[in-house]
Amino acid sequence: MKKRFAILLLATAVVSGPSFSQQNHTLVVKAAQPTATIQPTMWGVFFEDINFGADGGIYAEMVKNRSFEFFKPLMGWTVNRKKFVEGEVLVVHDEERTNNPRHLRVTMNNTVKGDLGLTNEGFRGMGIKKGLRYDFSVMYKLARNAKTKLYIELADSTNQIIGDTTLYLTEGGLNWNKAAVSFHATATVPKGKLNIWFQGNGIVDLDMISLFPGDTWKNRPGGMRADMVQLLADMKPGFIRFPGGCIVEGFDLSNRYRWKNTVGPVEDRQLIMNRWNIEFPYRSAPDYFQTFGLGFFEYFQLAEDIGAEPLPILNCGMACQFNSAELVPMDEIDPYVQDALDLIEFANGDVNTQWGKVRAQMGHPAPFHLKMMGVGNENWGPQYIERLKVFMSAIKAKYPDFKLVCSSGTDPNGDRFDYLNGELRKLHADLIDEHYYRQPDWFLKNAKRYDNYPRNGSKIFGGEYASHVEKTVGTNRNCWLSAITEAAFMTGLERNADVVNMASYAPLFANVDGWQWAPDLIWVNNLQSYGTPDYYVQKLFSLNKGSKVVPITLNNEAVAGQDSLYASACIDSASNELIIKVVNASGVQQNNTLQLDGVKKLAAKGKLTTMKADLTAINSFDNPTNVVPVESAISLKGKQILLSSAPYSFNVIRVKM
Ligand code: AHR
Repeated sequence: MKKRFAILLLATAVVSGPSFSQQNHTLVVKAAQPTATIQPTMWGVFFEDINFGADGGIYAEMVKNRSFEFFKPLMGWTVNRKKFVEGEVLVVHDEERTNNPRHLRVTMNNTVKGDLGLTNEGFRGMGIKKGLRYDFSVMYKLARNAKTKLYIELADSTNQIIGDTTLYLTEGGLNWNKAAVSFHATATVPKGKLNIWFQGNGIVDLDMISLFPGDTWKNRPGGMRADMVQLLADMKPGFIRFPGGCIVEGFDLSNRYRWKNTVGPVEDRQLIMNRWNIEFPYRSAPDYFQTFGLGFFEYFQLAEDIGAEPLPILNCGMACQFNSAELVPMDEIDPYVQDALDLIEFANGDVNTQWGKVRAQMGHPAPFHLKMMGVGNENWGPQYIERLKVFMSAIKAKYPDFKLVCSSGTDPNGDRFDYLNGELRKLHADLIDEHYYRQPDWFLKNAKRYDNYPRNGSKIFGGEYASHVEKTVGTNRNCWLSAITEAAFMTGLERNADVVNMASYAPLFANVDGWQWAPDLIWVNNLQSYGTPDYYVQKLFSLNKGSKVVPITLNNEAVAGQDSLYASACIDSASNELIIKVVNASGVQQNNTLQLDGVKKLAAKGKLTTMKADLTAINSFDNPTNVVPVESAISLKGKQILLSSAPYSFNVIRVKM
């Protein structure tokens, strides 16, 4: 109750709605006077492995620490052994397997089910669904005369068995083999676990102990959670930025994201600590690592699946400046630049090129048509510019049309920003990446931010933004106040689509049991996922993108805060529709007239999609559709629409021309 009061106080402060009488304005739309082309990439998504977004999130692997490479090799595992039973479980380090050196060595002596075994706890438990198929697999090496049978069980939190099977390991010899078996679960539980019991004698080595649900996206073995990908696909995003974020920079350079370590067979992808493991002591996650089961090939494939342009961000030779700020010396930067050139070859190169061949061997001989890449994330200072120049000249020399996204640092103003903005424009940067994590009133005040930006030269990528409502925590941070203020701001991005070519909310996903950063666009647990009100705002903009901006004005001025109104308008040439977006950020209903000029003929009815709610309203696992768009019909009177916009509402109107 106290929290709700705090948000309301803040809301009154940020949403300027002084009058309690009904407003009555005429907003004029000039439908025949396009002012800008809206890029197909305008509204996209930003993926980062933060908040258990990849491992423990969209990457559907259910076993935590499957290859025993976490700092504590048995983290996530429990060894179960009956008293006085002969046999042991050891962690073995095999230096010859450089990328995945550790495995388990199990020694048995006529053990039977229940004598000796392992339990994996999953990522804060395993979400198990009744009737669903589960695919278990393991890599193993068996001493020649050993005999091993595995009993595999899914159990609930009270140790009731809710699905089981057996698997014989039969291939003896010096090589690693793979064995797999599938079985079905008999109950749905949010926090289950996996037991493996050993029966037999002799010595068996085990690695890559894995369990995937049978309902992955496109039913790909070892794939992604379908519900989470579907939420992205539903947005029809223009691009997907990956893999971050600060994850690209790393705590230090040894911890940076290296795409080459994330492709090829999963068992050879070298795991590293996720930098969010230690970033925030108050949200520490000692079990947060990057296994790279979701690697660059899978990101490109995801982009292709959901029809989004891929936008990889690469390390520029600088580690996170809030952490170690380690720099690669200029005379050692070549491998970093080579990584960027090789990535373009990996994505687009002919199958006979070194990296095009790797892509083809992974199952995608056709190119991914990569057109752009980010160099650095939130890097700043002359050190960044110095390094960026080397990337720019090498990449542009080989691929002149390839677009580069460049960092303007961590904040949308201040000395660092001003310096970078000036330098990047001198370098004719293709796209400048601006980030704004700010309070709701910033978003309202900045709806005009781009109205006076230079119209020529570098374009803007609003690469990370979110309205942060103070004095709220976790899922509550994604309330209607955050979403509606983002909607108001986004009308300003759309109005300036000749300058702003791309924008994405950040971060994308958060596991409710393992988040480090909030607010986030989509919240998940082990079984469910839901879109926040912010998600539905993003989705509405994306699904109503249009192709050309047209002016919408109030007294000949852009609608950007007068009586708390914010608006943008565009034409969708493909469907020949006029699309108008109006945010009423005041606490009173407003009855405004939309005057549609420059159109010969309009349909008698249009479609109105509205989101409205109390400013504190949120979506949740129990009520995932509390704040969602609602569609209705809206009538036209000739070339006028009377729009009664509810207090705190976001309205999208589509009319056939
Ligand atoms: O989105 C969370 C973090 O915010 C990103 O990793 C970083 O780029 C920004 O500081």
